Amino acid sequence: MDSEKFIISGGKRLEGSVEISGAKNSALSIMAASLLTKDECILRNVPHLTDVEIMSAVIRKLGVKVEWINNDTLCIDSDNFNNYEAPYELVKKMRASILVMGPLLARLKKAKISLPGGCAIGARPVDFHIKGFEALGAKVEVEKGYIEAEIHKLKGNDIYLDFPSLGATENIMMAAVLANGTSVLRNAAREPEIVALAEVLNQMGADVQGAGTSAITINGVASLKPVSVTIIPDRIETGTFMVAAALTGGNITLVGADPDHQGALIDKLRLTGAKITIAEKSLNVQGPDMIVSVDVKTQPYPGFPTDMQAQFMVLMSIANGTSLISETIFENRFIHVSELKRMGADIIISGNTAMVKGVSTLSGAPVMATDLRASASLILAGLVAEGQTVVNRVYHLDRGYQAIEKKFAGLGAVIKRVK
Ligand code: EPU
Repeated sequence: MDSEKFIISGGKRLEGSVEISGAKNSALSIMAASLLTKDECILRNVPHLTDVEIMSAVIRKLGVKVEWINNDTLCIDSDNFNNYEAPYELVKKMRASILVMGPLLARLKKAKISLPGGCAIGARPVDFHIKGFEALGAKVEVEKGYIEAEIHKLKGNDIYLDFPSLGATENIMMAAVLANGTSVLRNAAREPEIVALAEVLNQMGADVQGAGTSAITINGVASLKPVSVTIIPDRIETGTFMVAAALTGGNITLVGADPDHQGALIDKLRLTGAKITIAEKSLNVQGPDMIVSVDVKTQPYPGFPTDMQAQFMVLMSIANGTSLISETIFENRFIHVSELKRMGADIIISGNTAMVKGVSTLSGAPVMATDLRASASLILAGLVAEGQTVVNRVYHLDRGYQAIEKKFAGLGAVIKRVK
């Protein structure tokens, strides 16, 4: 565990342009998809994040070569993909390691993956992944903390997901592309990361139709070929900077963002009074003079993202009025609330809803959080608070935001990383 922290002197209006990095969660699933061919895949616009390093370690463990060939480009060569075990030591660091399970079953017909435990934001079971693999013909057992699966021949099937899980949709898609026959995934997740993954799989020679809708049809093919692809922009990094503009009464242009992925947030921010101008590959957000309270409920895409709930709550904590924020995706995703209250926010939690009464100012304090997006919300709170805020446990932020302090400093924030 590192001892680095961010020290922020709040109160600066943020202004200027910020370059949006490649999407963490899309990079992770496309890195896993690279295992579906035995030849070299090239992934461009990959963000430098701890989670990307962990996924690299997981797939190296499987015998695969992963190399940065320039600043933002990864080369993944699966010629020697021969080990089917993702061990506890790696999976415990990142739950998304389970995304190698689909490719393992498709290529090696066998997988042994440490069962991801719960995490700070919820129990996060993987039963939908397992149910999907079983429907494709796998024999799956959970024993001694490991999921062990074996398959003689993957066979296409109709699979219904009880909830449109992003990870389960990705994992099952990656197995089904090399199955014999047709699979239909119903109540599938519709996130941009799903569409991006389907596009990559189709470029590799797969036949995936309907990604981005709730029914995805996958006609299995015999083998896949290598690809060279560019990772889509990170919609949560984009959203975090959009909220920063609104929060500080600033004016920020997000270069390289995809406005099509921000529908719910654009709508909610406009209702707070922010002015948003949309261009083809960028967005400009101007903060309002007075922030209006708005209610928000997290939902699967295209609903309001759970990964933006904590950041939006900071905005509501200094809004004019009271807002209700409901979290419907994860059962324990209000970890930031007690820290925001220490900074002067007026928030009451009842079940899965937080009632946020806007206050006129937040005040700087030492704070910490136990997950990525909660930590991002504390940075935002520090940027608008009076005085100094110290955000501990910077390693959570390094998992999902590339050079976050440099990007904020470039917009005029006073923020530094110290040991
Ligand atoms: N769920 C189950 N069983 C399953 C799978 C999911 O009950 O087999 C439940 C989860 O417990 C949760 C809900 O379904 O309550 C949705 O979970 P989902 O599977 O969609 O989440 P995920 O794939 O594990 C991804 C992102 C998360 C993001 C969620 C929701 C990656 C690597 N992670 O997780 O990102 O919050 O979707 O959008 O893609 C983050 O980036 O900070 C992050 C946590």
